[in-house]
Amino acid sequence: MRLLITGGAGSLGSNIIENIGDEYEAIVVLDNFATGKRESLPPRNNVEIVEGSVVDADLVNKVFSSLQPTHVIHSAASYKDPNNWVEDSQTNVIGSINVVRAAEAHAVTRLVNFQTALCYGRPTQVPIPVTHALQPFTSYGISKTAGEAFVLNSQVPSVSLRLANVTGPRLAIGPIPAFYKRLKAGEGCSVSTTVRDFIDMTDFISMLKLALKSDAPIGIFNVSTGEGHTISEIFRLVADHLGMPDAQPVAINPPGADDVAEVVLDPTATTQVFGWSAMVSFEETINKMLHWYDAYGITDVFSHLQEKK
Ligand SMILES: NC(=O)c1ccc[n+]([C@@H]2O[C@H](COP(=O)([O-])OP(=O)(O)OC[C@H]3O[C@@H](n4cnc5c(N)ncnc54)[C@H](O)[C@@H]3O)[C@@H](O)[C@H]2O)c1
Repeated sequence: MRLLITGGAGSLGSNIIENIGDEYEAIVVLDNFATGKRESLPPRNNVEIVEGSVVDADLVNKVFSSLQPTHVIHSAASYKDPNNWVEDSQTNVIGSINVVRAAEAHAVTRLVNFQTALCYGRPTQVPIPVTHALQPFTSYGISKTAGEAFVLNSQVPSVSLRLANVTGPRLAIGPIPAFYKRLKAGEGCSVSTTVRDFIDMTDFISMLKLALKSDAPIGIFNVSTGEGHTISEIFRLVADHLGMPDAQPVAINPPGADDVAEVVLDPTATTQVFGWSAMVSFEETINKMLHWYDAYGITDVFSHLQEKK
C-alpha cells in the first residue's frame, strides 16, 4: 500500500505518520508548511516530503504519477487568516478538486478527507447529528464545505470524517495551547462561554484506521465523544496543572460574531456503522495534552477566529 498525505506536516498528519506510517511501503507528504512544520515529521525511511501546494495541479499530478498511491489522506487546509478568503478558497476548494481529480485518474482505492464541525454553522440541534443541515458562515467553514462536496461527489471511494477538536502531540490551535502558553508566561486569559467536544488522538487514529480499509463503508461520519465541555473547564484544568489553583480568567466573553456557542458532534451513526466509539475520558485527554506541553513546549498558536480569545 502507498499513501499520499496532503498537509502531512500538520498536527493530524504528523500524528498519523507516527502511528500508522509503518503500514505503508511508501508515503509522500505534500505540504506547503503554511501551518505545518518539516521538523514535526518523524524520521522514517518510507516517507518522502514534497514541499508545495495542493493548489498547484501540475505538482499534484506529478506526485500521483510518481507515487501511484493506493490511499490518500487529504489533510491540507487553510484557515490561519480568517480574512484571507482567497487563500482559503484556493487551498480548501481548488486544492481539494486537484486532489480528487488526480485520485480519480489514478484509481485510488480509498480517500479520507477531514472536515471541520464549522460546516454545520450555528447548529439547531446539539449534539449535532451527521444529517444536520450544512450552514457554514466563515471563510474556513464555507471553503471546507465546498471542498468536501467535491470529494464526496467524485468517483473515488471516499470517507469524510467530521472532527471534534482532536487533542494530541503538537496541537497548536484552540484554548488548551492558548491558556497553557499565556498562563505560563504570566499573561491573563479571556475565557469564552462556548462549549466544545474534545477527542484524544488515539481515538481519532483508531477511527481513521477503520475508515482507511478499502472495504469499509464510504460517506460522512462524525468523529467525537459526543460530550460537550465548557472552555472554563479547560481553563481550570490548565491552571491547576500549572500549579495555579487561584488563577482566574481576566474576562468571560460571550462567543464572538464569527464563533459558535456550542459545538458537540453526535457520533451515534458512526458507532452504528463502524462499531467505533471514543475510549479516552475528557480529563485524561486534556491531562495527556498538558503533559505533552510540559515535555515538548509550545511554539505557535493558531486560530481561525477573528477575535482572539
Ligand atoms: N485538528 C483538529 O482537531 C481538526 C478538527 C476539524 C477538522 N480538522 C481538519 O483536519 C485537517 C488537518 O488539520 P490539522 O489540525 O492537522 O491542521 P494543521 O494546520 O496542523 O495541518 C494542515 C496542514 O496543511 C498544510 N497546508 C496548508 N495549505 C496547504 C496547501 N495549499 N498545500 C499543501 N499543504 C497545505 C499546512 O502547512 C499544515 O501542515 C484539516 O483539513 C482540518 O480542516 C482538524
